[in-house]
Amino acid sequence: MNPYLTLESDLIARMRQFRRDIHAHPELAFKEFRTADKVAEVLETLNLDAIHRGQAVTGIVAVLKGRNPDSRHIGLRADMDALPLCELNHFDHASRHEGKMHACGHDGHTSMLLTAACWLSENRDAFEGTVYFIFQPAEEGEGGARVMVEEEDFFGRFPVEATYGMHNWPGLPQGHFGIHHGPVMAAMDTFALEVKGRGGHGGIPNLANDPIVASAQLVSGFQTIVARNVSPLEQAVVSVTQIHGGDGDNIIPDSVTMSGTVRSFSREVREKVITRMKEVCAGIEVMFGVEVVLDYRPGFPPTINHADNAEICIRAAKKVAGEGAVIVDLPPSMGAEDFAYFILEHPGAYIWIGNGEQSPSLHNPHYDFNDDNLVTGANYWIELVISA
Ligand code: NI
Repeated sequence: MNPYLTLESDLIARMRQFRRDIHAHPELAFKEFRTADKVAEVLETLNLDAIHRGQAVTGIVAVLKGRNPDSRHIGLRADMDALPLCELNHFDHASRHEGKMHACGHDGHTSMLLTAACWLSENRDAFEGTVYFIFQPAEEGEGGARVMVEEEDFFGRFPVEATYGMHNWPGLPQGHFGIHHGPVMAAMDTFALEVKGRGGHGGIPNLANDPIVASAQLVSGFQTIVARNVSPLEQAVVSVTQIHGGDGDNIIPDSVTMSGTVRSFSREVREKVITRMKEVCAGIEVMFGVEVVLDYRPGFPPTINHADNAEICIRAAKKVAGEGAVIVDLPPSMGAEDFAYFILEHPGAYIWIGNGEQSPSLHNPHYDFNDDNLVTGANYWIELVISA
């Protein structure tokens, strides 16, 4: 066990207040102005080498050099945004902004990383290389990581060799870690489509071209993709979640619209699903003489850890939490995470830190980040920087 910080540390007491202040003032994607100001306020009091603000609007990258600063470069990432959700908690630090809530614990992620930055900036001799503390905006659906990585050339400007992420995980005991060698979070795509037929009288279908019958076949056809085209050893989901068409009992509508979501864990499976969806649509067009317009909207890619980096995380987590508190290769989550962009073409890994077995789930209006993780999470970040 290697506790750099304990629950009794003054720094932890300060950061608990910090976390609760951020929780009380949640801000949505790309609007984390107050949050970024608060993070920067703390960073500016530290002995850092550079603070880059305005990354992807509100993001911050802080740079800290240890011994032999050019010997290695490591990135640690936290997300800062909240969700459009009404908080139902009544404690003192509950959201003061109706309709906005830190229901995913990004307030805690920001605070854990900031705590590690505080400790490391006072202990520069404890580690080799250069650390980049990445405070990212807009993880929830908006892909702030993609903007940072792709549009703002993150890797060109900050030459990290590996980037690490951490998300709190309800259901996993506090003080425990969950670490995957490969897929950890799913790719999340959405789609919308329109089946265009020809409307007419419900009693005279031969003079119309019924898009409802074609749509029924289309939904059934989509359900064969996971069942018949994806390997039984792989995971994927194709869900049609909305279907709209028709206005009256005796009217065949002109068109039907539907939409849904696709989840997968590998690029190959994702491509296979997209290809088959297009083929099924084309087949339905021929079969029914309708037109099918498919708008496939790729979302976050799957988050797939690099095995070598996962091993580094496992070693660090075991030093901090003990051998028995690190659970390896739990089933991955069908949720999605934009950290994927940081490790799509570069090494890195993303791990889970237990938020407690009794914790309400992520995105639940009763959720709250477990403050004991300020110690566990910061110690993990510190250990990772020292020993990675
Ligand atoms: Ni989250």
